[in-house]
Amino acid sequence: MKSPNEEKIKLWGGRFTSVTASSVEAFTASIDVDARLYRHDIAGSIAHAKMLARQGIISARDARKIVRGLKAIEREIESGKFAFSPADEDIHMNIERRLTEKIGAAGGKLHTARSRNDQVALDTRLFLREEVRLIIQSLQSLGRELARAARRHLDVIMPGYTHLQRAQPVLFAHHLLAYFEMFERDRERFASCLERINVLPLGAGALAGTTFPIDRNYVAKLLDFPRVAKNSIDAVSDRDFILEFLSASAILFVHLSRLAEELILWSSHEFGFVELPDRYCTGSSMMPQKKNPDVPELIRGKSGRVFGHLHALLTTMKGLPLAYNRDLQEDKTPLFDTVDTVKASVAIVRELMGELKVRKDKMLAAARDGFMNATDLADYLVHRGLPFRTAHAISGKIVQHCIDRGCRIEELPLTELRRFSAKIERNVYNYLSAESVVGRHRSFGGTARSNVLRRLKQLRI
Ligand code: ARG
Repeated sequence: MKSPNEEKIKLWGGRFTSVTASSVEAFTASIDVDARLYRHDIAGSIAHAKMLARQGIISARDARKIVRGLKAIEREIESGKFAFSPADEDIHMNIERRLTEKIGAAGGKLHTARSRNDQVALDTRLFLREEVRLIIQSLQSLGRELARAARRHLDVIMPGYTHLQRAQPVLFAHHLLAYFEMFERDRERFASCLERINVLPLGAGALAGTTFPIDRNYVAKLLDFPRVAKNSIDAVSDRDFILEFLSASAILFVHLSRLAEELILWSSHEFGFVELPDRYCTGSSMMPQKKNPDVPELIRGKSGRVFGHLHALLTTMKGLPLAYNRDLQEDKTPLFDTVDTVKASVAIVRELMGELKVRKDKMLAAARDGFMNATDLADYLVHRGLPFRTAHAISGKIVQHCIDRGCRIEELPLTELRRFSAKIERNVYNYLSAESVVGRHRSFGGTARSNVLRRLKQLRI
């Protein structure tokens, strides 16, 4: 007869003489968090069972039972019928417990030549590899959306800024494509991180490998891992692949939040460069006139969360002695929340960019103000033989004169301009228009329309 307490003895409970304190059970359980690894856990276990049978470590019959049982459990979980129990700590033991319930003694053979330490590392890698592939795709769609917006607004000129002071006129499309380049680098970072996620840790056992004649390459083949971890101690204690993912996500959020900040500024009355579609804004409970850019604000806000997750895991990892330590269980909350936050944020920014209304006239008007052609006036004089420093000084004096008179450079009559330099001629007016200023910035990577168009063609947009 089983005593009532024996019912509660853990899968690992052999050497224990009393049941776990309920406070400890609650404190150590991770099932609420890691249940979402169930598919990966089952896929990993199926591959492991097949390998055990192939190597003659368990019978083919037992392996078939295990595989069938695991598939049935997957269906139970998917249909919401599976009863997760914190007493079984985590997803790995919840599934194993249920497997034995379903298929009897054969279930107890699945964990041969395996530890939860290599199992959880495997599950996390399987999970993240899937998610990173999706994130790479969503970054590609965001990039395409930006490039399409650039194409739609190819003729829009806006003020380019440095120090948030009007600096030189640029194409709005060029500005958008600057973000394209950032997200392209993000995509590359995730793709590179994927190479190091895609390494099979299973077979490392608890830390030392195993005495059973396992075939790790076969498991790698079944699960489509191009590489097998070379050191068992490293395999169970390495979380670099998560740190890399979190770093890539943090840098992505630097970019997302800079774009968000610009959308917030641009949609303000003070700038008025863009209008966010009503569907993407919310109102104020008190001020009837308000239309708030909550989506970009939340993107900007969420960057704090994502940076925090990177910091949290770096701190968890720092100074951990080899190999596995329970601390590592704390990797999942930051990982999962980052995955969810990145996916939701990239998707909504892509939507928003597709529906952005651009106030072409407002941008152009702003681009004509602020003496942003002063550099071009200096360049004009350089083309007429003056050293750049002299030309810079002359152009600066003209700007000062215009500030006093309250007019633009191109509004000064020629006679007045020529008082500053006899080199100035009638063609200066055409030279100073925002359109011709932009069009002349043809150096590689510059804002000229011809450059932007070439880049868009390269991107097949
Ligand atoms: N839930 C654990 C984790 O997420 C699984 C590994 C537990 N291993 C152990 N020896 N307690 O890290």
